[in-house]
Amino acid sequence: MELRNLGASEVRVTPIGLGCWQFSGGKGLFAKMWATMKDVPFTEIVRTALEGGINWFDTAELYGRGKSEEDLSKGLQAAGKTPGEVVIATKWIPTWRTARSLVDTIEERKRRLNPYPIDLYQIHWPLSLSTIRAEMRAMAELVRRGDIRAVGISNYSAGQMRRAHRELAALGIPLATNQVQYSLLHRNIERNGVLETARELGITIIAFSPLAQGLLSGKFHERPELVKLVGGRKYLPGYWKSGLRKSAPLIQAMRRIGEKYGATPSQVALNWLVHFHGTSVVAIPGATKVYQAQDNVGALRFQLAREELEQLDELSTSYK
Ligand SMILES: NC(=O)c1ccc[n+]([C@@H]2O[C@H](COP(=O)([O-])OP(=O)(O)OC[C@H]3O[C@@H](n4cnc5c(N)ncnc54)[C@H](OP(=O)(O)O)[C@@H]3O)[C@@H](O)[C@H]2O)c1
Repeated sequence: MELRNLGASEVRVTPIGLGCWQFSGGKGLFAKMWATMKDVPFTEIVRTALEGGINWFDTAELYGRGKSEEDLSKGLQAAGKTPGEVVIATKWIPTWRTARSLVDTIEERKRRLNPYPIDLYQIHWPLSLSTIRAEMRAMAELVRRGDIRAVGISNYSAGQMRRAHRELAALGIPLATNQVQYSLLHRNIERNGVLETARELGITIIAFSPLAQGLLSGKFHERPELVKLVGGRKYLPGYWKSGLRKSAPLIQAMRRIGEKYGATPSQVALNWLVHFHGTSVVAIPGATKVYQAQDNVGALRFQLAREELEQLDELSTSYK
């Protein structure tokens, strides 16, 4: 399986990882709105993802206040993975905190993930009581102490990312990643400078919500009644009748293109994401069910041809 370095760091990951927000036990504002996030079979999902060939996992302090990190660790232990055999990315909550808290709370993150070390530590979003400079200095301290291997950010604008990159570079450490929303139905980073700046500075984009929270699987186009069953989705315009009508031609094209490879729409969507911009983008689809994890890892067993990547690009430009 292909491995890619996260930015200029030494951390190497498969183009697709597993997003672990789904392991938050339905705790937290957003997870509560998602009916399918209760009783997620995390052990089987982790095992299935590993068997499918992925080597990394994205979690966060925020996801169930440490529950996702703990369940990820349990799942990896059940699958017989030893520390260092897999790559772990987690995140720090910045709101109402200063940069010092990055250092002060690291033992808690390590305890939740025990025995697995933190490979990539990310700042979940830019809003905090400290400056980017102070936060990058704290991150550098964690790298020097051996608590983390690489530094990432999330939801940062192009300007904020450039600033973080500069501050870290002055300390001799590369900024490895910026984790942002990116999918065939959400292409803002191509317009707002984030993708261009990341490519210029050699920072890897980690695409979150790469399936537009399940919309790109096509299941809601086939069975619109599912929207109501999954709580929070009914508030998102993409899931309304008008939204489903708008994205239907794209889903149809993904089905048609997928036929050649025996691939599902989800697999086509993920394959596009991790290949259209060369190796700049990696993706972390989440799963609430085992079949979804199996489906999503299957995105790595084929490669869309350039003209197919471009066809999907063109068809989805209206969602930019
Ligand atoms: N940094 C940030 O601010 C941020 C924000 C959001 C997410 N994230 C990260 O990104 C990860 C993924 O994002 P996401 O969960 O928002 O969106 P996503 O990966 O686009 O969608 C995941 C959801 O889609 C459905 N699904 C997944 N695979 C499917 C398949 N093959 N067929 C049918 N349905 C499928 C499942 O929901 P149902 O079973 O309910 O249908 C699943 O929970 C998260 O786990 C988290 O690690 C980060």
